[in-house]
Amino acid sequence: MRTIVIAHQKGGVGKSTIAINLYHTLKDKMDVALQDFDNQGTTLRALGDATVYKKNDKIGEHQLLIIDTPPYLFNELPAILKNADMVIIPTRKSIPDLLAIGDTLDIIYQGKARNNNLKIFVLYNQVDTRTSLNEPIEEKIKSMGVEAFKTQINNRVNYSRSITSENGIYGLDTKAEKEFKELTNEILTKFI
Ligand SMILES: Nc1ncnc2c1ncn2[C@@H]1O[C@H](COP(=O)(O)OP(=O)(O)OP(=O)(O)O)[C@@H](O)[C@H]1O
Ligand SMILES: [Mg+2]
Repeated sequence: MRTIVIAHQKGGVGKSTIAINLYHTLKDKMDVALQDFDNQGTTLRALGDATVYKKNDKIGEHQLLIIDTPPYLFNELPAILKNADMVIIPTRKSIPDLLAIGDTLDIIYQGKARNNNLKIFVLYNQVDTRTSLNEPIEEKIKSMGVEAFKTQINNRVNYSRSITSENGIYGLDTKAEKEFKELTNEILTKFI
């Protein structure tokens, strides 16, 4: 089983949105399950207990497990990352997210110290292509030595709707569908 963890110590960066739409992109192609470490969390509430494990549940055998983490469990992250293959850090191209990502990376590197196979990627989310902040923020994150996915997720109202929609972004927004499929392909190639 492959395991992808979605983490950022900051709230509201899009962790649950990414986890849910990654799930909807892959659910017809492979045996994929979600785990929400927040027992009252968005992912659990959005998808129902049937497909989503809670924090202390015993996990069955699946091809892929996507773990959504809440900001308040941040100190538990190294333990969560011990058996993971990849951690995705969604971040907006904003100063507050940039300031928080250093601490996030410190904790993730503690996890990497116990799990050398862990792959670490930043995912730019809620991107607004019109602001001049984009390039300097990308440069700064690059200088921290962490790789970012080429695919970026734009700011689209339909991502908010997707959380409670039966198939996530699918059927709501063709541009979002396209970028999410592209992201998913990029994620899968990192495993090969
Ligand atoms: N690409 C996007 N475009 C527009 N809105 C987005 C996008 N990504 C996330 N959002 C919105 O931003 C808000 C926060 O997203 P989400 O709940 O996924 O963040 P989170 O990191 O899981 O938060 P928490 O840390 O509180 O669990 C939600 O209202 C969501 O709909
Ligand atoms: Mg969340």
